[in-house]
Formats: sequence, structure tokens, C-alpha cells
Amino acid sequence: MNVDQLRELLPVTRDFIYMNTGWAGPTPTSVLSRIAETLEKEAALGPASARGVAFAHDIQDEARAAVASLVNADEEDMTLTHSTREGVNVVLYGMDWQPGDELLICDLEHPALTSPANVLAERMGVKVISVSIPPLSQPSETLNLVTSALSKRTKLVALSHIQYTCGLRIPIKEITSAAHEMGIPVLVDGAQSFGQVEVDMKDLGCDFYALSGQKWLMGPVGTGALYVRRERRGMLEPLFSTNTLETGRESTQRRPLARFALVSQSPGISAGFAEAVRLATDTGIRQIERRAMSLSNLLRERVAPIDGCNLLSPTSPESACGLVTVSLDEWPAEELVTTLQDRFGIVGRTVHGPDGVRFSTHFFNTESEVDKVAETMVKLATEGYQPS
Ligand SMILES: Cc1ncc(COP(=O)(O)O)c(C=O)c1O
Repeated sequence: MNVDQLRELLPVTRDFIYMNTGWAGPTPTSVLSRIAETLEKEAALGPASARGVAFAHDIQDEARAAVASLVNADEEDMTLTHSTREGVNVVLYGMDWQPGDELLICDLEHPALTSPANVLAERMGVKVISVSIPPLSQPSETLNLVTSALSKRTKLVALSHIQYTCGLRIPIKEITSAAHEMGIPVLVDGAQSFGQVEVDMKDLGCDFYALSGQKWLMGPVGTGALYVRRERRGMLEPLFSTNTLETGRESTQRRPLARFALVSQSPGISAGFAEAVRLATDTGIRQIERRAMSLSNLLRERVAPIDGCNLLSPTSPESACGLVTVSLDEWPAEELVTTLQDRFGIVGRTVHGPDGVRFSTHFFNTESEVDKVAETMVKLATEGYQPS
């Protein structure tokens, strides 16, 4: 799949410069068709007929196998969820916390992690250690900051693979190996990495990896998965009890992590997830990563010299990715985002800490779109456009 072929499947690219995949990717028409066909077939079979139930199970197995294969995990170690948040909550609330246990996170994290962490602090007396990581850190600096905050009381390290505000990549493999030396498990929030960069469970070595389908993978909203390293299964108790807790049932044997399922999956949405994985696999995750990186490099190069424009994302290849955050002097971030969208058809998003507009450059974006964004930033910085 090349850029033009992929853009054909993304109607939004005809009208907008869509650079907000880090929030939600546009759903390709082939994924939409697969969802519709699956829902129609389910309705025709009867969702709760023997054939309808078998059909739904097959689709879920297909989606689970597809996502496991994309991140080099065994199928048995992967369970479908509806979002990254769900996976993070299954792990955080599934552990046996005691007052004074420490949960190590960092100060750039998304509320998907900070808010359950705060609840654990309030309800269970967990001590949340939030390491301060400068957004432009090199991996060695990040590694040092995290490892020097580990202690005998650390019960879990929980970090995003890529930080959502500034796009900083966290050296998860190195952090995991340092944490494991002290017997501490590692949970990774993969919302911004899955579908954007190569993610390999066997190589990273982490214990839990929560991901979503609606962002860089461009799957439907309401899709995701959680990886649980086999040796760590026993560390978690299900957050909700559902009938899949029963042992010995055929479905539980086939899908051991199904005991952590909170609610049922729609076969239509799961089929869309599987189709989006197929599309990413066809395009090639390495090609996606390479192009996202080369477009973001171009954007960084073009905006960095603009007077009044501040680049808030890392630039080195080890720390950077397809997320580029910038601010403009005199422009509040919200107003900048609204102006870019309403006046210029450029879709980005506001982020805070650091405050700015975040652009996501995906495989389907083009060099001329990057040029247009850079030219627009020049206009806003220098040509008398004012925040209203
Ligand atoms: C780092 C990070 N974690 C979690 C989330 C939430 O993802 P989801 O909506 O799939 O729970 C986001 C969404 O932007 C994110 O950027």
C-alpha cells in the first residue's frame, strides 16, 4: 500500500490536512466496509444463534491473533479491550496494593494513567512517585531519572511508550531490564506507539502493554488490547467479575485472559480492528514509522527557524517520533488550534504541559501538507494575523 492508495481510502484527506491521528486516526473506507459487512452478517445469522455466536468468536479470535502478531506476542497473552484506558485500569486495579506501596509514573503522563493512579493513592494509600522528565530528554537521561526513583517499595513502574504531549520516546526496554533486576514489573501505555512505531513484546520484555486501535492504527473507536506476560497473569485479579471467570469452559480455555474482560465486544468493531491491523501490516509498520519520522523531521526543520515559534518536541532520532508540538508567541494554544482548523483546514490538537499545538504526521500525510502547515505558521507568526 503506497501513500496515494492509502489516501484514496481516507476521504478526510480531500478536504483537510489531517494531523490529529494521535487523538484519533481517520478510519479507512475498507475498514468501514468490513464493519458493515460483519454487522450485516451477524444480523442475518442471528447474533445469539449457534452460528452467530461461533461467527462472533471467530472474529474476536481473528482480531486477537492479528494484534498479537503485529506486536510479536503469543495470542494467548493478548486480550481484546475497548481502549488503552481499559487495559491500564485492568492492571492498576487488578493488583494487590498495600498502603505505602509505590507506583512510579512520570509527570508527562496522560490522564488515562494519572487518574487511576490518583484513585489508588486516595483509596488504597498507594504512594504515587511522579518522576519529572524534561520533554526534550535523551534516552539515557530518562533512564537515569526513572531508575534512580526505584525503591524497595516500588510495586509497579507505569509509563507511556511515547509521551502524548511532546512525543518523547521512553526507553522502555532499558527501563524494564533495570526494574526487573529489582523484581519490579512494568506496565506500558502504548496508545501513541501502537500502529506508529515497531512494538515487539519479546524484545521490550515489559509485563503489561495496553494499546488502542483508534489512533495510529486507524481502527474504529472502541477497540484495543492488553498484553499480559504469562508469568505475571497471577499478579492480577479481575476488576469486574464476569461469567468468563468460570474455569473449565471452552471459551476460557481458548482465551485465558478473557477473565479480565469487562464487557462484550461487538463483532463489527472487532472485525474493523482486524482489518485495520491488516492494512498496517500490508503497508509495513517499519515503513509507517520511517515515513512518520521523515515527515515530522521535515516539519521540525521548517518550523524551528520561524521567529516566535517554539519547538517543544525532541529532535534526536532516539527520542523523537511523528508527534510535533509547537507554540507561537502571543498565541494561546487553544486559539491557535481553532484558527488553524477554521481558517486553514489544518487539524491538530491542543496539549498542555508543555502547552502548544500538536501535529501528528502519519504515513498518509504528504510533504506538501507539511509545507502548507509550515507556511501557515509563518503567516500566523509574522503577517499580522492576530488571535481574535
Ligand atoms: C498516552 C495516552 N494514553 C491513553 C490515551 C487514551 O486512549 P484511549 O482513549 O484508547 O483510552 C491517550 C489518548 O490520547 C494517550 O495519548
